[in-house]
Amino acid sequence: MPSLHLFIWIWLAWLSRGYFSNAQLAWTPIYVDGNSQIDLWTQESKGCPCPWNVNNHQCACCVQDGGCHCGKESPNRCTQCGLEKHCSFMCNMSITSTELQKHSGKSFGQIKSPSLEGPDHCWFTFVPSPTERVEIQIYRLLNVGRFNGSSCVGGFLQLMSGVEPIFSSTDNNICGVNERFSPPVVLFSDDGVASLLFQIFDKTRRSQFLAYFSFTSINNTEGLGFQPRGGMKLQNTDCDWLYQDFACVKLGICTISSPNYPGIYPPNRQCKYHITTSNDRMRVRITFNTLLLPQNYCSTDYVAIYHGSTRSSPHLITLCANQKKSVDYPGPKLLLEFSSGPQVPPYNYNGFVANLEFYEKTTTTEPSLLLFSHTMEQLSNAVQHPKEISTAASYKFKCEITISGNNTRSGHFDTREYEWFPTCRLIFKGRVTDVIHISLFNYRLRAPQCRSVIEIFDGFMEDTKGPIDKLCSPLIKQTYDIEAQNTHVKKYLSTKNIMVILLRRPTAPSSTNEAEFLSGSFFFHDEQISGTMQPNGLCDVKYNGVNSPLAGLLDNPGLQQLYWNIDGPLICTQQFVPAVNQSVIIKILGLEHMAQNPSCITQCGDNGCRCVSKSNLQRVDHFVIVNEEGWTIACLCGAFQPEWFPVSVRSWSSLTVIYSVAHYIWSNKGFSFSASYTFNTDTICSDQIYTLHSGEIVLKNISTPDNLNHFYHQTCTWTLHSNVERQLELDITSKQNRPCTAWNISVHEYSASAKDRHLGELLHSFCSRDSHKQYLLPWKLNTVIIRLKTLSRTLPQFRIKWKSQVIRANTRFGTPTAAPNAVSSVTCLQPSVSIFLILLILTGLHCENGTNTYR
Ligand SMILES: *[C@@H]1O[C@H](CO)[C@@H](O)[C@H](O)[C@H]1NC(C)=O
Ligand SMILES: *[C@@H]1O[C@H](CO)[C@@H](O)[C@H](O)[C@H]1NC(C)=O
Ligand SMILES: *[C@@H]1O[C@H](CO)[C@@H](O)[C@H](O)[C@H]1NC(C)=O
Ligand SMILES: *[C@@H]1O[C@H](CO)[C@@H](O)[C@H](O)[C@H]1NC(C)=O
Ligand SMILES: *[C@@H]1O[C@H](CO)[C@@H](O)[C@H](O)[C@H]1NC(C)=O
Ligand SMILES: *[C@@H]1O[C@H](CO)[C@@H](O)[C@H](O)[C@H]1NC(C)=O
Ligand SMILES: *[C@@H]1O[C@H](CO)[C@@H](O)[C@H](O)[C@H]1NC(C)=O
Ligand SMILES: *[C@@H]1O[C@H](CO)[C@@H](O)[C@H](O)[C@H]1NC(C)=O
Repeated sequence: MPSLHLFIWIWLAWLSRGYFSNAQLAWTPIYVDGNSQIDLWTQESKGCPCPWNVNNHQCACCVQDGGCHCGKESPNRCTQCGLEKHCSFMCNMSITSTELQKHSGKSFGQIKSPSLEGPDHCWFTFVPSPTERVEIQIYRLLNVGRFNGSSCVGGFLQLMSGVEPIFSSTDNNICGVNERFSPPVVLFSDDGVASLLFQIFDKTRRSQFLAYFSFTSINNTEGLGFQPRGGMKLQNTDCDWLYQDFACVKLGICTISSPNYPGIYPPNRQCKYHITTSNDRMRVRITFNTLLLPQNYCSTDYVAIYHGSTRSSPHLITLCANQKKSVDYPGPKLLLEFSSGPQVPPYNYNGFVANLEFYEKTTTTEPSLLLFSHTMEQLSNAVQHPKEISTAASYKFKCEITISGNNTRSGHFDTREYEWFPTCRLIFKGRVTDVIHISLFNYRLRAPQCRSVIEIFDGFMEDTKGPIDKLCSPLIKQTYDIEAQNTHVKKYLSTKNIMVILLRRPTAPSSTNEAEFLSGSFFFHDEQISGTMQPNGLCDVKYNGVNSPLAGLLDNPGLQQLYWNIDGPLICTQQFVPAVNQSVIIKILGLEHMAQNPSCITQCGDNGCRCVSKSNLQRVDHFVIVNEEGWTIACLCGAFQPEWFPVSVRSWSSLTVIYSVAHYIWSNKGFSFSASYTFNTDTICSDQIYTLHSGEIVLKNISTPDNLNHFYHQTCTWTLHSNVERQLELDITSKQNRPCTAWNISVHEYSASAKDRHLGELLHSFCSRDSHKQYLLPWKLNTVIIRLKTLSRTLPQFRIKWKSQVIRANTRFGTPTAAPNAVSSVTCLQPSVSIFLILLILTGLHCENGTNTYR
């Protein structure tokens, strides 16, 4: 047995000297004194004077530099000075870096466990100094459990942080029946005090391990003190980090790594590295300098990158095994996920190291921030408003930034880009017909009790009654807030073409990184051209036929910098409201880059186009035109035929175009569309009131465009009104034979209180296949409303004639409430109008033709 030991020790000594670095694996060389020692601290087992009797030379010879004799109980052995107590039984012990340094002058040493009879366990606690990490190198395992393919059973060695040696499935977990590790299994712990647990559950005769330990300085230049650079460890998470562009730009480069690099990484973890950019011009280059993950474990051990802040964001790339790579992505948010499965023998992998470089894209078409001035003179020159000059002068702003809608229509601003002044004012000045939309993404106000503030004014400060919003310190909002979806972003919309943001921060920062700041984006929206912005949405506009240009192209939303921070659904609406005697035509000329989601298909028929989706339509990109009641007229999604375009709708009432992207991110903006609108003078479906006692309504024929998917949408009403008591007769004919759903006419009582076009109780309805019907309406129903509803490829064709029978004094029945005399013009009746029927029979009149004939 001793000879075997001897062999191991020699082999270990040789190994530790020569091969401390193997490709990416690295560990601290443990080496003292000569070449042919028995173990780290013993040179010879015999031949030196015993400490208790200098005349006896039968004792072990110890290494001069740090070795001490074990004493009477083990005369042939030496150990590290300071650990003599544990000479014969290295178990359940605590090793403190400073103590060890004091006694032996060394920051490393050796652990040779006793031969345990399982089940049993030992713990070892390592207390490093603040700039040290605990490093363990395991060389030999004998009956320390076994790996069953997915975990250690029967026993293990585990390195964990803290002094309590309690097993955790997400800490290093090494086992083996009879293993010699070359290279060693290298474990690091970076969280201060660490404990090594040597646990045997099985019944064993002799369980043992051999290891070196080191209190490795984090200044170590050989890569052993490796620490990630520029990131922020997120509290209360296992292993999550945040890397922000401004911190990395300041450092030049940030470094990111798997936990405990260059040691083996802990098992069964999901570490999330959040990478954020604070403006849309920033891109991130991620260069994997090393990547060493176990082969054939790609399903559990990998690095995945997502575009967004969660694992459900669009997936960009997955790396595993040793596929090193350099990748380059735009912001604003990336998630790098590092996943680890069980630790697998021979434990010769150690994860990854990557550099993060943030750089500004230089190929942008135009700088988004132009025209800013720092001096009062420049300000005064730039401002024509005389009142503004005088009042601005009295404010004495040192820091004035004017952003003009003449130069730039949308962009990003960040006060950190300017010299620090206690008060900064950003003035957004649009064209006469502009409104300004502002989103605040990031701000940091540190001062207590509202000493620092951000105020937003709708117009020049002097012209307003006060700010429309005021943000008081202390207040911090950063885009890295994982929960911060777009809904939490502060959004403001001006009523006119001026908006002012005032940032007051009386306390000078100790460093630029600490400065109180504000960043966000803006866009100028020309209401004359692009519809009226709706206050609650980011991108909802309304076009009124009265004051909008009569024709134009629809804007594609999602292109302005305002959106760069969104990570989630994006829904934008554009509403078109035709004025009286107008119709609106919306023509979709094409859609591009729509995700070809097979779960949604477009079906077009006479009743418009439908999105037929297996999943909730909100989860699918789609483009839809709805009417004022929210009914779909044309919906386009996923698999549609390009030859269906153009799809157009002509409507005499309001239409809303909804652009819906299931998951929008700045770098993957979703689909684009090409669509136009026109408002047409078109009196065929106006809400007209007829006071004549007889007349006729026909729909004028209008030329039909030749595209197949052209739909008419109508809700037309005609009011027949009379001041005098009368009985109304309607005669409706149509030569078409269309389904009722294509178009239909309904006759309603007039109801002053009804909200929807005063439509009261339904009296009759007519479909084209009824071909001809006559309706005699109740006596004294002086006002009725006739409504036409259409949703079809063809325009309805019909003729409505009406006649009134006005009461004359002194009728035969003599009572004003009774029905009038039967008149020859009354020829046909609805059976339901029984009172008339009776009267008709009484008076002996009959119908000569039509379907309802009474004699
Ligand atoms: C080590 O200490 C634990 C208690 O902390 C004890 O249960 C265990 O038996 C000890 N191990 C040995 C081998 O004495
Ligand atoms: C290995 O052991 C674990 C824990 O005892 C057990 O859950 C797992 O099923 C075992 N795996 C195999 C492949 O036997
Ligand atoms: C490590 O770096 C720190 C801070 O830079 C320094 O104070 C310390 O002396 C260094 N230690 C060693 C061992 O070089
Ligand atoms: C924008 O352009 C108009 C017309 O050229 C000019 O009158 C106005 O002063 C400009 N506004 C700004 C803020 O530059
Ligand atoms: C709409 O057209 C009708 C018929 O041409 C006309 O009588 C009516 O005055 C028009 N209404 C408006 C508001 O122009
Ligand atoms: C209306 O126009 C269409 C074609 O433009 C034609 O086929 C149809 O007969 C016309 N109808 C009437 C009633 O003139
Ligand atoms: C009347 O026409 C409209 C529009 O085409 C349709 O939505 C509605 O279902 C029709 N009503 C009936 C009773 O068929
Ligand atoms: C019903 O009779 C009137 C006059 O008797 C006639 O003008 C009309 O064409 C007839 N209608 C039908 C549908 O036969």
